[in-house]
Amino acid sequence: MEPAFWQQRWADNQIGFHQAQVNPYLQQYWPQLQLAPGSRVLVPLCGKSLDLAWLAGQGHRVLGVELSRQAVQAFFHEHGLVPQVTQQGAFEVWCSGDVALWCGDFFALRAEDVADCVALYDRAALIALPPEMRANYMRLLSQVLPAGAGLLVTLDYQQELLAGPPFSVADDEVRRGFAGWQVEALDAREVISESPKFLQAGVTSLVERVYRVTF
Ligand SMILES: C[S@@+](CC[C@H](N)C(=O)[O-])C[C@H]1O[C@@H](n2cnc3c(N)ncnc32)[C@H](O)[C@@H]1O
Repeated sequence: MEPAFWQQRWADNQIGFHQAQVNPYLQQYWPQLQLAPGSRVLVPLCGKSLDLAWLAGQGHRVLGVELSRQAVQAFFHEHGLVPQVTQQGAFEVWCSGDVALWCGDFFALRAEDVADCVALYDRAALIALPPEMRANYMRLLSQVLPAGAGLLVTLDYQQELLAGPPFSVADDEVRRGFAGWQVEALDAREVISESPKFLQAGVTSLVERVYRVTF
């Protein structure tokens, strides 16, 4: 998806991906990662997710990366925070307390930017990207992140019945893309009955998977 696609989604307020609650998988499985207090979490393609604030509430420093300035601005506004804005290479960095949102293209991220990120949280980031971009996304993460652990949430369905995003990402694609990492499936849930858009398109199975990745 080109940047203009996402900018338009935010401009039109077509943000059905945004969750009004903190992601339940995050709350359930994050403690299993047993991360040290204060450790920094990278949240790629973060939108204005409430998960960012939840992670900060767990004592983490959070580095979110988001293309849309509107999304970044909305995050701080909706949490009653007044961010400081600075420039860091290709990114505009909006920062308040333990949350720093880097506004710009995730693919411009360099190893030195995430040198102290020992955790990763991906919900609706990998699955927001078409196949070639997903391969680049997984390659970049594998290249730039130092040792650490994270959670990844994916969707798996009959892609031919519906155009993404969200895109279907099969288990083997995750394992191939993160070949140098340890990838462990923690959960898999059939959610088709709660997904009218997919039901209407004739999709018969929509599986949400949660992975623990160790890198
Ligand atoms: C499906 S949304 C998910 C947002 C968030 N993870 C959540 O759970 O609400 C994908 C987000 O990625 C952003 N995005 C897409 N391509 C990007 C890129 N190349 N760099 C940074 N952000 C990007 C979009 O603007 C959008 O907010």
